[in-house]
Amino acid sequence: MKVVGIVGSPRKGGNTEILVGKVLEGASDKGAEIKTFKLNELNIRGCQACDYCKQHDGCRQQDDMQEIYRELISADALVVGSPIYISDVNAQTKIFLDRLYAFLIIGKEPKFPRGKKCVLVYSQGMGDDGRKVMEGVADFLKNALGMDIKAIVGGNYLNPLGAVKEREDLLKTAYEAGKSLVG
Ligand SMILES: Cc1cc2nc3c(=O)[nH]c(=O)nc-3n(C[C@H](O)[C@H](O)[C@H](O)COP(=O)(O)O)c2cc1C
Repeated sequence: MKVVGIVGSPRKGGNTEILVGKVLEGASDKGAEIKTFKLNELNIRGCQACDYCKQHDGCRQQDDMQEIYRELISADALVVGSPIYISDVNAQTKIFLDRLYAFLIIGKEPKFPRGKKCVLVYSQGMGDDGRKVMEGVADFLKNALGMDIKAIVGGNYLNPLGAVKEREDLLKTAYEAGKSLVG
């Protein structure tokens, strides 16, 4: 059982990173192997809409997304965490999501088996639209890639770095969501 975590926030020790870490901890405590990618530290370009992936297996762009593709194909579950920037996922996360286009052919089966489990994580400040944003991402992952969305975990009033460490409720929800990915 392998779980891949994606951290979209550029902030080291930020709330997204902590919450994604808690989800992975829950999965790891149930025996999963875990692997984390911090998007801001990787070289990943936006989708070029060349449609190479519609005629071939995979994406033409030989950047750090290639390793994430390999890990996602072999993973049993995925955790994607993003801070909310201007009422949406942030740019790093959006680029990652756009690049998942390489896995889908509209109207056909995705290029990996259906039923991979998924937990979505968000962190935001004064707004309260994070859940709605992540519900949109969940719809895409479910409808286009056949993923089984287990939970959306997140909260607001989380501007200070690491503020979520004081939010026992959220940490617990994240940990339990991670456990739900295994078995
Ligand atoms: C460029 C930028 C845009 C933001 N836009 C929003 C927003 O639209 N709504 C909101 O509630 N918080 C917004 N925030 C606050 C972040 O979502 C919040 O600080 C979040 O907890 C950061 O997550 P992190 O700790 O994982 O980096 C914004 C922050 C930045 C830097």
